[in-house]
Amino acid sequence: MPGLARLLLSPPSCRDVEVLRRAVGGKTVLITGASFGIGEATARLFGQAGAEVLLVARTEEKLRAVADSIRGSGGRAHAYPLDLSRTGDIAPRMEEVQRLHPRIDLVISNAGKSIRRPALESLERRDLERSLAVNFTGPAALILALLPRMIGQGGGQIISVSTVSAKPPAAPRWASYQGSKAGFDLWLRGLAPEVRGRGVRVSSVYMPLVRTRMSAASGLYRRAPALTPREAAEIIAGTVVRPRDRVAPWWLGAQELAALLLPGVLDGVLSRLEDRERRRGEGARP
Ligand SMILES: NC(=O)c1ccc[n+]([C@@H]2O[C@H](COP(=O)([O-])OP(=O)(O)OC[C@H]3O[C@@H](n4cnc5c(N)ncnc54)[C@H](OP(=O)(O)O)[C@@H]3O)[C@@H](O)[C@H]2O)c1
Repeated sequence: MPGLARLLLSPPSCRDVEVLRRAVGGKTVLITGASFGIGEATARLFGQAGAEVLLVARTEEKLRAVADSIRGSGGRAHAYPLDLSRTGDIAPRMEEVQRLHPRIDLVISNAGKSIRRPALESLERRDLERSLAVNFTGPAALILALLPRMIGQGGGQIISVSTVSAKPPAAPRWASYQGSKAGFDLWLRGLAPEVRGRGVRVSSVYMPLVRTRMSAASGLYRRAPALTPREAAEIIAGTVVRPRDRVAPWWLGAQELAALLLPGVLDGVLSRLEDRERRRGEGARP
Protein backbone atom coordinates (compact mmCIF):
# COMPACT_ATOMS: atom_id res chain seq x y z
CA MET A 1 0.00 0.00 0.00
CA PRO A 2 1.46 3.46 -0.87
CA GLY A 3 2.53 5.70 2.06
CA LEU A 4 -0.44 8.14 2.07
CA ALA A 5 -3.01 5.36 1.80
CA ARG A 6 -1.29 3.47 4.61
CA LEU A 7 -1.37 6.61 6.79
CA LEU A 8 -5.09 7.16 6.12
CA LEU A 9 -6.32 3.61 6.24
CA SER A 10 -4.31 1.47 8.57
CA PRO A 11 -5.28 0.86 12.16
CA PRO A 12 -2.72 -1.41 13.90
CA SER A 13 -2.48 -4.86 12.35
CA CYS A 14 -0.61 -8.18 12.55
CA ARG A 15 1.10 -9.16 9.30
CA ASP A 16 3.15 -12.01 10.73
CA VAL A 17 1.36 -15.36 10.46
CA GLU A 18 3.71 -16.91 13.04
CA VAL A 19 2.74 -14.26 15.62
CA LEU A 20 -0.93 -14.94 14.87
CA ARG A 21 -0.28 -18.70 15.16
CA ARG A 22 0.90 -18.21 18.75
CA ALA A 23 -2.42 -16.48 19.55
CA VAL A 24 -4.88 -18.73 17.67
CA GLY A 25 -3.11 -22.02 16.85
CA GLY A 26 -5.34 -24.91 18.01
CA LYS A 27 -8.22 -22.55 18.87
CA THR A 28 -11.69 -22.57 17.35
CA VAL A 29 -12.82 -19.40 15.58
CA LEU A 30 -16.32 -18.79 14.20
CA ILE A 31 -16.46 -16.20 11.40
CA THR A 32 -19.69 -14.84 9.93
CA GLY A 33 -19.73 -13.57 6.36
CA ALA A 34 -16.87 -15.94 5.53
CA SER A 35 -17.96 -16.61 1.94
CA PHE A 36 -16.64 -13.36 0.44
CA GLY A 37 -14.54 -10.26 1.07
CA ILE A 38 -13.12 -9.51 4.51
CA GLY A 39 -14.64 -12.63 6.11
CA GLU A 40 -13.22 -14.96 3.47
CA ALA A 41 -9.75 -13.38 3.78
CA THR A 42 -9.96 -13.64 7.58
CA ALA A 43 -10.97 -17.30 7.41
CA ARG A 44 -8.03 -18.04 5.11
CA LEU A 45 -5.56 -16.11 7.30
CA PHE A 46 -6.72 -17.69 10.58
CA GLY A 47 -6.85 -21.14 8.93
CA GLN A 48 -3.28 -20.62 7.73
CA ALA A 49 -2.30 -19.69 11.29
CA GLY A 50 -3.55 -23.03 12.67
CA ALA A 51 -7.02 -22.09 13.98
CA GLU A 52 -9.97 -24.38 13.33
CA VAL A 53 -12.31 -22.04 11.44
CA LEU A 54 -16.11 -22.34 11.39
CA LEU A 55 -17.48 -20.49 8.39
CA VAL A 56 -20.96 -18.96 8.43
CA ALA A 57 -22.82 -17.22 5.56
CA ARG A 58 -25.67 -17.91 3.13
CA THR A 59 -23.94 -18.98 -0.09
CA GLU A 60 -23.40 -22.67 0.66
CA GLU A 61 -21.43 -23.51 -2.47
CA LYS A 62 -18.94 -20.67 -1.93
CA LEU A 63 -18.66 -21.36 1.79
CA ARG A 64 -17.82 -25.01 1.07
CA ALA A 65 -15.30 -23.99 -1.60
CA VAL A 66 -13.51 -21.71 0.91
CA ALA A 67 -13.53 -24.48 3.55
CA ASP A 68 -12.21 -27.02 1.00
CA SER A 69 -9.47 -24.65 -0.06
CA ILE A 70 -8.37 -24.05 3.58
CA ARG A 71 -8.37 -27.81 4.22
CA GLY A 72 -6.46 -28.32 0.95
CA SER A 73 -3.68 -26.13 2.36
CA GLY A 74 -3.46 -28.20 5.53
CA GLY A 75 -5.89 -26.18 7.69
CA ARG A 76 -9.07 -27.16 9.52
CA ALA A 77 -12.32 -25.58 8.31
CA HIS A 78 -16.06 -26.35 8.36
CA ALA A 79 -18.94 -24.65 6.55
CA TYR A 80 -22.20 -23.85 8.34
CA PRO A 81 -24.62 -22.14 5.96
CA LEU A 82 -26.99 -19.73 7.71
CA ASP A 83 -29.06 -16.72 6.74
CA LEU A 84 -28.69 -14.19 9.55
CA SER A 85 -31.85 -12.40 8.47
CA ARG A 86 -33.87 -15.52 9.44
CA THR A 87 -33.60 -14.84 13.16
CA GLY A 88 -35.52 -18.00 14.12
CA ASP A 89 -32.87 -20.21 12.45
CA ILE A 90 -29.93 -18.77 14.40
CA ALA A 91 -30.23 -20.36 17.87
CA PRO A 92 -30.88 -23.91 16.56
CA ARG A 93 -27.98 -23.61 14.09
CA MET A 94 -25.62 -22.36 16.81
CA GLU A 95 -26.78 -25.18 19.11
CA GLU A 96 -25.80 -27.65 16.39
CA VAL A 97 -22.44 -25.91 15.87
CA GLN A 98 -21.71 -25.98 19.62
CA ARG A 99 -22.64 -29.67 19.80
CA LEU A 100 -19.98 -30.38 17.17
CA HIS A 101 -17.48 -27.79 18.54
CA PRO A 102 -18.00 -27.61 22.31
CA ARG A 103 -15.41 -24.85 22.72
CA ILE A 104 -15.47 -21.72 20.54
CA ASP A 105 -12.71 -19.32 21.59
CA LEU A 106 -13.29 -16.43 19.23
CA VAL A 107 -16.32 -15.12 17.32
CA ILE A 108 -15.71 -12.69 14.46
CA SER A 109 -19.02 -11.00 13.70
CA ASN A 110 -18.32 -9.77 10.19
CA ALA A 111 -21.35 -10.52 7.98
CA GLY A 112 -23.05 -7.37 6.83
CA LYS A 113 -24.87 -5.61 4.03
CA SER A 114 -24.61 -2.04 2.83
CA ILE A 115 -27.24 -0.19 0.85
CA ARG A 116 -26.78 3.32 -0.52
CA ARG A 117 -30.18 4.76 -1.41
CA PRO A 118 -32.19 7.81 -0.34
CA ALA A 119 -34.40 6.86 2.61
CA LEU A 120 -37.43 8.21 0.73
CA GLU A 121 -36.85 5.74 -2.11
CA SER A 122 -36.21 2.76 0.12
CA LEU A 123 -39.61 2.09 1.68
CA GLU A 124 -40.78 -0.43 -0.92
CA ARG A 125 -37.36 -2.09 -0.97
CA ARG A 126 -37.57 -2.57 2.82
CA ASP A 127 -34.00 -1.29 3.16
CA LEU A 128 -34.25 -0.50 6.88
CA GLU A 129 -35.81 -3.86 7.75
CA ARG A 130 -33.21 -5.79 5.73
CA SER A 131 -30.29 -3.79 7.11
CA LEU A 132 -31.42 -4.21 10.70
CA ALA A 133 -31.79 -7.98 10.22
CA VAL A 134 -28.32 -8.55 8.74
CA ASN A 135 -26.37 -5.83 10.56
CA PHE A 136 -28.04 -5.78 13.97
CA THR A 137 -30.66 -8.30 15.11
CA GLY A 138 -29.10 -11.32 13.34
CA PRO A 139 -25.54 -10.79 14.66
CA ALA A 140 -26.94 -9.96 18.12
CA ALA A 141 -28.96 -13.21 18.17
CA LEU A 142 -25.88 -15.17 17.08
CA ILE A 143 -23.73 -13.67 19.84
CA LEU A 144 -26.42 -14.27 22.47
CA ALA A 145 -26.64 -17.91 21.37
CA LEU A 146 -22.87 -18.39 21.82
CA LEU A 147 -22.15 -16.30 24.92
CA PRO A 148 -23.43 -18.60 27.71
CA ARG A 149 -21.08 -21.40 26.60
CA MET A 150 -18.20 -18.95 26.15
CA ILE A 151 -18.69 -17.64 29.69
CA GLY A 152 -19.08 -21.19 31.00
CA GLN A 153 -15.78 -22.29 29.46
CA GLY A 154 -13.95 -19.44 31.21
CA GLY A 155 -13.90 -16.77 28.49
CA GLY A 156 -13.13 -15.86 24.91
CA GLN A 157 -13.22 -12.92 22.53
CA ILE A 158 -15.87 -11.38 20.30
CA ILE A 159 -14.71 -9.12 17.49
CA SER A 160 -17.21 -7.01 15.59
CA VAL A 161 -16.26 -5.79 12.13
CA SER A 162 -17.89 -2.40 12.31
CA THR A 163 -17.23 0.58 10.08
CA VAL A 164 -15.89 4.12 10.41
CA SER A 165 -19.35 5.20 9.27
CA ALA A 166 -20.94 3.74 12.42
CA LYS A 167 -19.68 7.00 13.95
CA PRO A 168 -20.96 10.55 13.27
CA PRO A 169 -21.51 12.43 11.06
CA ALA A 170 -24.53 10.66 9.57
CA ALA A 171 -24.43 10.79 5.78
CA PRO A 172 -27.32 11.09 3.32
CA ARG A 173 -28.28 7.91 1.41
CA TRP A 174 -26.64 5.71 4.06
CA ALA A 175 -29.37 5.97 6.72
CA SER A 176 -30.24 2.24 6.82
CA TYR A 177 -26.62 1.08 6.76
CA GLN A 178 -25.27 3.63 9.21
CA GLY A 179 -28.27 3.34 11.51
CA SER A 180 -28.09 -0.47 11.69
CA LYS A 181 -24.28 -0.61 12.07
CA ALA A 182 -24.26 2.15 14.70
CA GLY A 183 -27.16 0.52 16.56
CA PHE A 184 -25.40 -2.84 16.70
CA ASP A 185 -22.16 -1.16 17.77
CA LEU A 186 -23.88 0.58 20.68
CA TRP A 187 -25.66 -2.64 21.66
CA LEU A 188 -22.36 -4.52 21.66
CA ARG A 189 -20.47 -1.79 23.55
CA GLY A 190 -23.25 -1.94 26.15
CA LEU A 191 -22.87 -5.71 26.41
CA ALA A 192 -19.06 -5.50 26.74
CA PRO A 193 -18.86 -4.42 30.40
CA GLU A 194 -21.46 -7.06 31.34
CA VAL A 195 -19.21 -9.88 30.11
CA ARG A 196 -15.69 -8.47 30.62
CA GLY A 197 -15.54 -9.58 34.27
CA ARG A 198 -16.66 -13.04 33.15
CA GLY A 199 -13.68 -13.48 30.83
CA VAL A 200 -15.13 -12.31 27.50
CA ARG A 201 -13.38 -9.43 25.73
CA VAL A 202 -15.47 -7.54 23.18
CA SER A 203 -13.55 -5.64 20.48
CA SER A 204 -15.02 -3.30 17.86
CA VAL A 205 -13.01 -2.74 14.70
CA TYR A 206 -14.08 0.46 12.91
CA MET A 207 -12.91 -0.57 9.46
CA PRO A 208 -12.08 2.03 6.80
CA LEU A 209 -12.76 1.43 3.09
CA VAL A 210 -11.92 -2.08 1.85
CA ARG A 211 -12.00 -3.18 -1.80
CA THR A 212 -14.72 -5.90 -1.78
CA ARG A 213 -17.94 -6.60 -3.70
CA MET A 214 -19.70 -4.48 -1.04
CA SER A 215 -17.70 -1.31 -1.71
CA ALA A 216 -17.67 -2.02 -5.47
CA ALA A 217 -21.50 -2.00 -5.50
CA SER A 218 -21.79 1.75 -4.92
CA GLY A 219 -19.27 2.87 -7.58
CA LEU A 220 -18.66 5.95 -5.42
CA TYR A 221 -15.32 4.74 -4.10
CA ARG A 222 -13.75 3.33 -7.27
CA ARG A 223 -10.80 5.73 -7.12
CA ALA A 224 -10.59 6.18 -3.33
CA PRO A 225 -7.70 4.57 -1.43
CA ALA A 226 -8.85 1.27 0.04
CA LEU A 227 -7.46 -1.71 1.92
CA THR A 228 -7.36 -5.15 0.36
CA PRO A 229 -9.43 -7.86 2.12
CA ARG A 230 -6.13 -9.44 3.29
CA GLU A 231 -5.06 -6.13 4.89
CA ALA A 232 -8.45 -5.91 6.63
CA ALA A 233 -7.97 -9.50 7.87
CA GLU A 234 -4.56 -8.49 9.26
CA ILE A 235 -6.24 -5.70 11.26
CA ILE A 236 -8.60 -8.31 12.74
CA ALA A 237 -5.57 -10.51 13.46
CA GLY A 238 -3.93 -7.56 15.25
CA THR A 239 -7.03 -7.27 17.44
CA VAL A 240 -6.56 -10.89 18.53
CA VAL A 241 -2.82 -10.65 19.09
CA ARG A 242 -3.21 -7.45 21.15
CA PRO A 243 -6.84 -7.38 22.32
CA ARG A 244 -8.34 -3.91 22.60
CA ASP A 245 -11.89 -2.61 22.98
CA ARG A 246 -11.72 -0.25 20.04
CA VAL A 247 -9.59 -0.40 16.90
CA ALA A 248 -9.85 2.44 14.38
CA PRO A 249 -7.83 4.61 12.01
CA TRP A 250 -6.17 7.47 13.93
CA TRP A 251 -8.43 10.15 12.41
CA LEU A 252 -11.76 8.64 13.49
CA GLY A 253 -11.66 10.29 16.93
CA ALA A 254 -11.03 13.69 15.28
CA GLN A 255 -13.95 13.11 12.90
CA GLU A 256 -16.27 12.30 15.82
CA LEU A 257 -15.08 15.39 17.68
CA ALA A 258 -15.66 17.61 14.62
CA ALA A 259 -19.19 16.18 14.26
CA LEU A 260 -19.81 16.96 17.94
CA LEU A 261 -18.35 20.46 17.92
CA LEU A 262 -19.40 21.62 14.44
CA PRO A 263 -22.67 19.79 13.68
CA GLY A 264 -24.14 22.66 11.67
CA VAL A 265 -21.11 22.99 9.39
CA LEU A 266 -20.85 19.27 8.59
CA ASP A 267 -24.61 18.86 8.10
CA GLY A 268 -24.57 21.89 5.78
CA VAL A 269 -21.77 20.43 3.64
CA LEU A 270 -23.45 17.01 3.45
CA SER A 271 -26.76 18.60 2.59
CA ARG A 272 -25.23 20.62 -0.27
CA LEU A 273 -23.49 17.50 -1.63
CA GLU A 274 -26.80 15.61 -1.50
CA ASP A 275 -28.66 18.44 -3.31
CA ARG A 276 -26.01 18.40 -6.03
CA GLU A 277 -26.22 14.60 -6.46
CA ARG A 278 -30.04 14.69 -6.54
CA ARG A 279 -30.07 17.43 -9.21
CA ARG A 280 -27.52 15.51 -11.28
CA GLY A 281 -29.71 12.38 -10.98
CA GLU A 282 -32.84 14.32 -12.02
CA GLY A 283 -30.95 15.84 -14.96
CA ALA A 284 -29.84 12.40 -16.14
CA ARG A 285 -33.41 11.01 -16.14
CA PRO A 286 -35.13 10.90 -19.58
N1 LIG B 1 -15.93 -3.12 2.27
C1 LIG B 1 -15.81 -2.04 3.02
O1 LIG B 1 -15.35 -0.97 2.54
C2 LIG B 1 -16.18 -2.06 4.47
C3 LIG B 1 -15.80 -0.97 5.26
C4 LIG B 1 -16.13 -0.98 6.60
C5 LIG B 1 -16.81 -2.06 7.15
N2 LIG B 1 -17.17 -3.11 6.36
C6 LIG B 1 -17.88 -4.23 7.00
O2 LIG B 1 -17.18 -5.41 6.75
C7 LIG B 1 -18.07 -6.53 6.76
C8 LIG B 1 -17.78 -7.42 5.57
O3 LIG B 1 -18.04 -6.69 4.38
P1 LIG B 1 -17.32 -6.98 2.99
O4 LIG B 1 -16.86 -5.68 2.47
O5 LIG B 1 -16.38 -8.12 3.10
O6 LIG B 1 -18.60 -7.40 2.12
P2 LIG B 1 -18.91 -8.65 1.20
O7 LIG B 1 -17.74 -9.01 0.39
O8 LIG B 1 -20.19 -8.33 0.52
O9 LIG B 1 -19.15 -9.81 2.27
C9 LIG B 1 -20.26 -9.77 3.12
C10 LIG B 1 -20.39 -11.13 3.80
O10 LIG B 1 -21.56 -11.12 4.62
C11 LIG B 1 -22.35 -12.25 4.29
N3 LIG B 1 -23.77 -11.99 4.44
C12 LIG B 1 -24.52 -11.03 3.85
N4 LIG B 1 -25.81 -11.17 4.17
C13 LIG B 1 -25.88 -12.25 5.00
C14 LIG B 1 -26.96 -12.92 5.65
N5 LIG B 1 -28.23 -12.52 5.51
N6 LIG B 1 -26.68 -14.01 6.40
C15 LIG B 1 -25.40 -14.45 6.53
N7 LIG B 1 -24.34 -13.86 5.94
C16 LIG B 1 -24.60 -12.78 5.17
C17 LIG B 1 -22.03 -12.51 2.81
O11 LIG B 1 -22.24 -13.86 2.47
P3 LIG B 1 -23.50 -14.43 1.67
O12 LIG B 1 -23.88 -13.42 0.63
O13 LIG B 1 -22.96 -15.72 1.15
O14 LIG B 1 -24.52 -14.62 2.72
C18 LIG B 1 -20.53 -12.23 2.79
O15 LIG B 1 -19.80 -13.36 3.18
C19 LIG B 1 -19.47 -5.93 6.80
O16 LIG B 1 -20.01 -6.03 8.10
C20 LIG B 1 -19.26 -4.47 6.45
O17 LIG B 1 -20.22 -3.64 7.04
C21 LIG B 1 -16.86 -3.15 5.04
